[in-house]
Amino acid sequence: MMHPSLVAAFFFLLGLSYCLTLPIPHEDSDEFTTEDLRFAERYLKTHYNLRSSPANIRRKNANTVAAKLREMQSFFGLEVTGILDEETYELMQQPRCGVPDVGEYNFFPRKLKWSKNNLTYRIVNYTRDLTRAEVDRAFKKAFKVWSEVTPLNFTRIRSGTADIMISFGTKEHGDFYPFDGPSGLLAHAFPPGPNFGGDAHFDDDETWSTDSRGYNLFLVAAHEFGHSLGLEHSRDPGALMFPIYTYTGNTGFLLPDDDVQGIQALYGAGGRDPHHKHPKTPEKCDENLSLDAITELRGETMIFKDRFFWRLHPQMVEAELVLIKSFWPELPNKIDAAYENPIKDHVIIFRGRKFWALNGYDIIEGYPKKIYELGFPNEMKTIDGAVHIKDTGKTLFFTGDKYWSYDEENQVMEKGYPRRIEEEFPGIGNRVDAVYQKNGYIYFFNGPLQFQYSIWSNRVVRVLKTNSMFWC
Ligand SMILES: *[C@@H]1O[C@H](CO)[C@@H](O)[C@H](O)[C@H]1NC(C)=O
Ligand SMILES: *[C@@H]1O[C@H](CO)[C@@H](O)[C@H](O)[C@H]1NC(C)=O
Ligand SMILES: *[C@@H]1O[C@H](CO)[C@@H](O)[C@H](O)[C@H]1NC(C)=O
Ligand SMILES: *[C@@H]1O[C@H](CO)[C@@H](O)[C@H](O)[C@H]1NC(C)=O
Ligand SMILES: [Zn+2]
Ligand SMILES: [Zn+2]
Repeated sequence: MMHPSLVAAFFFLLGLSYCLTLPIPHEDSDEFTTEDLRFAERYLKTHYNLRSSPANIRRKNANTVAAKLREMQSFFGLEVTGILDEETYELMQQPRCGVPDVGEYNFFPRKLKWSKNNLTYRIVNYTRDLTRAEVDRAFKKAFKVWSEVTPLNFTRIRSGTADIMISFGTKEHGDFYPFDGPSGLLAHAFPPGPNFGGDAHFDDDETWSTDSRGYNLFLVAAHEFGHSLGLEHSRDPGALMFPIYTYTGNTGFLLPDDDVQGIQALYGAGGRDPHHKHPKTPEKCDENLSLDAITELRGETMIFKDRFFWRLHPQMVEAELVLIKSFWPELPNKIDAAYENPIKDHVIIFRGRKFWALNGYDIIEGYPKKIYELGFPNEMKTIDGAVHIKDTGKTLFFTGDKYWSYDEENQVMEKGYPRRIEEEFPGIGNRVDAVYQKNGYIYFFNGPLQFQYSIWSNRVVRVLKTNSMFWC
């Protein structure tokens, strides 16, 4: 028999991805209503095992609200204060899986896993949002994610009791964990074991899809089946098992490295993995760290690398790592260059020959556009770096060993360009990965090095490691 508190641990609570907060240049609202505080307490009870019984509180201090807040802030890489601040509260409202981040079973150091590699699943019933064939395909593909990297084998059966019983239900649906209508709880799955063990339930009050609309059934199922196989939540924001739902695209899903490590720790490798590369999440303190792009956004610094960016608040030491798609689902998974035009309050993002103008979460209508509309020659393929110089109103674009200057006010490329990088900015090398401007300096990034360049004296004043952005 499965321990009932283990069963209790498995929920899927999801909101909508636009709850993620962008910095907004006003507001100062660390005031929470009683309702907010109750919500926060419920969140800590569901996901961090906060207990309110007086006996517990008296026995040891570790189970207080502050301690649980610290646990949560630490899990998500926020500043660990033990205080409910705006950022922590906003994070609580983000779309996420309801399986606790600190599971009950963590206190019993036993591994929950299947003792056989040959598992069966059965699709008990269907949602009306998709055709049966689409649902079948989504689940099959979700199991394949895991079978490709393990010795596990999933066989579908059409009657009888399977190891993993899959069903759609609404509200109260046969276990003690009712769903809650649209949004909120999305699905839940039980860890390996008999009876409910391994089963996955999907809330049919959600809109399920095969693309970006509503919730993508394949992505949610792949996450849930991770729980069905014994995985817990990961702190790695790039992992499939990260608690927060992000639509990461429609094609070419690759199981991130963190999940591969997790499942192979339980079941070993399978010897038939067709993907030689599983995306790794960048380490900010990697001595060889190089960057894709840097821009300011309303006073924060956003540092792009692969599928991610780090958010660096001026008053905070800890950079927060976020998936690009959790902010802007329409943007590509990797970008080349970015800059902020503070007068228009736009951030401009480049990838290949396309560029997007963003205002907060919104992609401005008419984008993406082609870079030759800015005045670049047709044969140009990519922009490596871009920086807006406030004092001159010009934006500099770096590509290969050359750079261009764009007049933002008149929206024309300036005459006399491109010029050679080495001639105008001696000492920074002949290419630029990423670039930004601050307090009269331009910071050029080239591989693992960054060059602090004085605009006034036209020279490099300091050479730093790229990762010194993060005080490593
Ligand atoms: C796995 O299960 C399938 C279907 O039940 C069966 O055909 C196959 O022989 C099993 N393989 C092993 C290794 O048990
Ligand atoms: C996996 O299951 C299929 C279908 O039952 C079976 O043919 C195959 O032999 C199994 N493979 C392994 C490695 O168990
Ligand atoms: C699907 O099956 C589950 C589990 O048996 C049940 O609770 C639910 O009501 C069923 N849903 C529909 C739409 O029949
Ligand atoms: C950084 O790069 C150097 C040279 O390529 C390599 O020897 C070293 O192992 C790398 N360091 C890390 C942490 O990957
Ligand atoms: Zn989960
Ligand atoms: Zn259920």
